[in-house]
Amino acid sequence: MMFRLAPSLLSADFSRLDREIAEVGEGGADLLHLDVMDGHFVPNLTFGPPVIAALAGSTTLPLDAHLMVTDADPLLSPLAAAGVARVAVHVEACPHLHRTLSTIRDLGMAPGVALNPSTPISLLEEILTSVDFVLVMSVNPGFGGQRFIPHTLSKIARLRAMAGREVLDISVDGGVDTDTIGPLVQAGATTLVAGSSVFGRTDRRAALSELRASGAESPGPQGETI
Ligand code: DX5
Ligand code: ZN
Repeated sequence: MMFRLAPSLLSADFSRLDREIAEVGEGGADLLHLDVMDGHFVPNLTFGPPVIAALAGSTTLPLDAHLMVTDADPLLSPLAAAGVARVAVHVEACPHLHRTLSTIRDLGMAPGVALNPSTPISLLEEILTSVDFVLVMSVNPGFGGQRFIPHTLSKIARLRAMAGREVLDISVDGGVDTDTIGPLVQAGATTLVAGSSVFGRTDRRAALSELRASGAESPGPQGETI
């Protein structure tokens, strides 16, 4: 199964972001995951469109914005102007989800919907054909370095079955490391977001190639084996 690696900048050294981004680019990352937090939807505050616009010039990697904010709509135009390739909004935060996803697409970005660990995939029933990807949270959003929630594996497998023949990228975010990536790919994940398991290492190239190798290995029978 083919999959992509998206290092999350949240665990990078914020005092040298351009260097950090260059290292994962040279190390073989496929996307750059950008966690936008507002201190309201989640209890943490990071960066927004102006910082992303400034960083966009440091990389050719597609920019993957994960909006953990109460009000996503005002950020969409500035993110498009910054050169962001795709945007995930949380289903828990968007009362007019179809409108928000349509706006993302109209602005030329790929729309995605993110689900907290406690949010059922049944909430996607009416929206799945309107998104390019689903971002399944495998930790409660807000912080890097948290422990993977094992129940996510069956959630991904059920989502893959629900997508049927639709081309759907299932992205997984939280606690992705060399132990969890194999079962996640086996369950149907196609983009793996990894923060601390990449930026927590000095050698980012080695971290990415170890993740790629572990993801390619068969973990054995599918299920909650972590
Ligand atoms: C958490 C963020 C993640 C975070 C993952 O709210 O959405 O992208 O960076 O960090 P790790 O990979 O360390 O769990
Ligand atoms: Zn994220």
